Amino acid sequence: MKTKGDLTATRREYLAQPLLEHDLEEDPIAQFSKWMEAAMEVSPDDATSMTLATADKSGMPSARIVLLKHFDDEGFAWYTDYRSQKGADLAENPKAELMFYWYGLERQVRIQGTVEKLAKAQGEKYFNERPLGSRLSAAASCQSHPVESREKLEQAVHDLESAHADGNIPHPPEWGGYILKPSRIEFWQGRENRLHDRFQFNLTATGWQVQRLQP
Ligand SMILES: Cc1cc2nc3c(=O)[nH]c(=O)nc-3n(C[C@H](O)[C@H](O)[C@H](O)COP(=O)(O)O)c2cc1C
Repeated sequence: MKTKGDLTATRREYLAQPLLEHDLEEDPIAQFSKWMEAAMEVSPDDATSMTLATADKSGMPSARIVLLKHFDDEGFAWYTDYRSQKGADLAENPKAELMFYWYGLERQVRIQGTVEKLAKAQGEKYFNERPLGSRLSAAASCQSHPVESREKLEQAVHDLESAHADGNIPHPPEWGGYILKPSRIEFWQGRENRLHDRFQFNLTATGWQVQRLQP
């Protein structure tokens, strides 16, 4: 039976390029930096989109896209509303995974680790750098909580804008950053006939150790 939802005939080959041992940086953050640079060249608007997977204390997972705002040896950071579903999950269970899929490059990166809140001053600094519309929406919304209607939401934005006609929207204390401190990072490069290249870095007492995984 041919159903509308049958996608088994959808196929593509992954032919962009290999990822070989001698191409790999010893430090996965340096490797990530190289791949991010390449992704920014191909698609600057989408390169920083990443899936953030969390789980509550019962183990129920929940995934959504957020935007990577900075990364370094310390970890990978994004900004959000601490009162959101992800905020509730992370308060109960600070373990999470970030996942990037860079379509044009046929690459996936998975980053597992432990999440901490960034300092309040850092959240405030980034909040104040955002455009007025984004600041208003963030301050007027209690992310992931139900709202009666679109009109209520728009009214809340309008009220906030009127109350702060000078454009200085106070930084909501519940809006801020998280940083994921990585303990495992995997680089996946699509290859012909699904014989993909995968390298997994694990953080050990003596530093990062890398191994090739079967596809
Ligand atoms: C391209 C894209 C970028 C997004 N960036 C963010 C972000 O940086 N921070 C954020 O809180 N939500 C962002 N969102 C919205 C989230 O996917 C999600 O709807 C929201 O954070 C609520 O998720 P939660 O209920 O699981 O906490 C983005 C969504 C998309 C599609």
